[in-house]
Amino acid sequence: MAADHILVTYATVYGSTREVAEAVAETLREGDLEVDLHDVRAVRDLGAYGGVVLGAPLYIGHLHKAARTFLSEHQAALAEVPVALFALGPTGAGDAEEEWQAVREALNADLAQYPWLKPIAVELFGGKYDPSRLNLPHRLLALLPASPLHNAPASDLRDWDAIRAYACSLAPVLQAGARA
Ligand SMILES: Cc1cc2nc3c(=O)[nH]c(=O)nc-3n(C[C@H](O)[C@H](O)[C@H](O)COP(=O)(O)O)c2cc1C
Repeated sequence: MAADHILVTYATVYGSTREVAEAVAETLREGDLEVDLHDVRAVRDLGAYGGVVLGAPLYIGHLHKAARTFLSEHQAALAEVPVALFALGPTGAGDAEEEWQAVREALNADLAQYPWLKPIAVELFGGKYDPSRLNLPHRLLALLPASPLHNAPASDLRDWDAIRAYACSLAPVLQAGARA
């Protein structure tokens, strides 16, 4: 099969990363790329794709496990095509600069586990946090006084202009990969 499509794939718990992935896919389509959008858990075979964009939120200092599993399971295919990454994390808890710096370091530490991965771009976006929607384990975690989520208010730090600008910047490189 011709590798003429781009895959935008995402891990998510509460849907905010899926919404960012949807915006990335839409922007790439506006740039005339053929784009498939799938939850990372639904992706079996990368053979049809000439480029991949992977988005994942950080949870407890790490990229969502489904994204890490995806990177490990598809190493051979991902090493052959342009791969762009984005992560969601900071939600405005505590000092903004310190929070972003710490999250960047956590992201870099996770990505260092995949030395074969040479992404064409890695971007960190603010996340969305809604304490009223937490599942039980996350609610219990947020109850711990030592947790950064303790008493944290709802927030949505996703910068849609930055997200679309990121997607626009990827289009030429992904297009070249899809035509190769
Ligand atoms: C229990 C919990 C733990 C989190 N841990 C981190 C973290 O370690 N670092 C970070 O930057 N963001 C953290 N976040 C924020 C999420 O990454 C952010 O809310 C993201 O937008 C969630 O994505 P999703 O809606 O796609 O699941 C955490 C959020 C929750 C609810």
